[in-house]
Amino acid sequence: MTSRAPKRALLAALIGGALVFASVVPATAAANSDGPSIRVVGGSNANLADTGWFLRFVSVTGMGPANCGATQISSRWAVTAAHCVDTPDGMAKTGNGKSYLQVNPATRGAGTRYYLDKVIVHSGYKKNARLQINDVALLKTKVSMGGAKLALNSDKSAPGIGHAEQVYGFGERVDGDRDSQATELQEGRVEDLAGPYGSTCGNYGSDYRGAYELCAGLPAGGVDACQGDSGGPLVATVAGRRVLVGIVSTGLGCARAKYPGIYTRISTYSNWIKARAFGKFAVTPSCASPCVRAKNKSMTIKLSNRTSTSGKYSVSGSKYVKISSSWGTIKGKKSRTIRVRVISSKKKCVVVKVKSTKTPTKSFTIATNGKSC
Ligand code: ARG
Repeated sequence: MTSRAPKRALLAALIGGALVFASVVPATAAANSDGPSIRVVGGSNANLADTGWFLRFVSVTGMGPANCGATQISSRWAVTAAHCVDTPDGMAKTGNGKSYLQVNPATRGAGTRYYLDKVIVHSGYKKNARLQINDVALLKTKVSMGGAKLALNSDKSAPGIGHAEQVYGFGERVDGDRDSQATELQEGRVEDLAGPYGSTCGNYGSDYRGAYELCAGLPAGGVDACQGDSGGPLVATVAGRRVLVGIVSTGLGCARAKYPGIYTRISTYSNWIKARAFGKFAVTPSCASPCVRAKNKSMTIKLSNRTSTSGKYSVSGSKYVKISSSWGTIKGKKSRTIRVRVISSKKKCVVVKVKSTKTPTKSFTIATNGKSC
């Protein structure tokens, strides 16, 4: 891409969709206005001991392989960008039996291939917008991947402006040069340039929608994701914990001043992701299993509906406990707290099971004699 034709570059990035991808390209200086923009890679080799959740995603379709990043959130689920599976031939949307993930590879392409079982693309994903919107998809593998899991940021007020963020990927180190794709995982150190409520991201104007997108880079440019990094993680430390805050989505060129990287804002989509990967209801018991409770004492289980559609639940135990509501319906985004009271003084280990549509059964144990199981 040349800096002379930024509009064309953006258009190419949008049209190229899954076949044109980004990388950790930090440029020290603006490109020469003639020819391809040669930028210094602003990233450095990542410390692989800290990136166990990084996944390299290769979507193989009738049009050939396309490289992206992804993030592991559970043993079989990964988060990536919708445009990484939006190939014009439509084949990447099914995984095609050939698309795969590799866990935190030491070098590009190294390691076991975990083939996909399922792909879920956000139904509101739009590629024709100037900056694509709802650019999020979920990938499920056929078998467990091992590797680490990264938590999703659900704090809508974070990260704030100036908050440090790191982007990871195997993408281009020189904008527009496919041969410059990294052989070792790169880490680009950037910062949040808009904050959660900011409506301004560089010179993107009203194309940037802060509620859905996150704006990260350096005020002077120089460090950024680039082609081939798409779908990969933008990570930050929020309340002392490493969390996924963004997904590499788009940008005008790479590492240019006033045109920071645009990421899918995870806090906006965390319930969408969790409802599909972890279940419709968040199930939160008031005490860890085994929960020790003597006769007439109780514990509670909070069920929170992560979706906007209603869902049914059932809770079962045994004759040694009384469940305040053993089945019911919870409307979209509402929650219910169920009380489980011990009604016997016998020494028992009662397994309480919570079932609901599309949510894996969750079980807790209650030690009813007041002592451990
Ligand atoms: N859409 C690009 C891709 O498919 C990601 C571009 C990210 N660009 C940026 N300047 N941060 O790889």
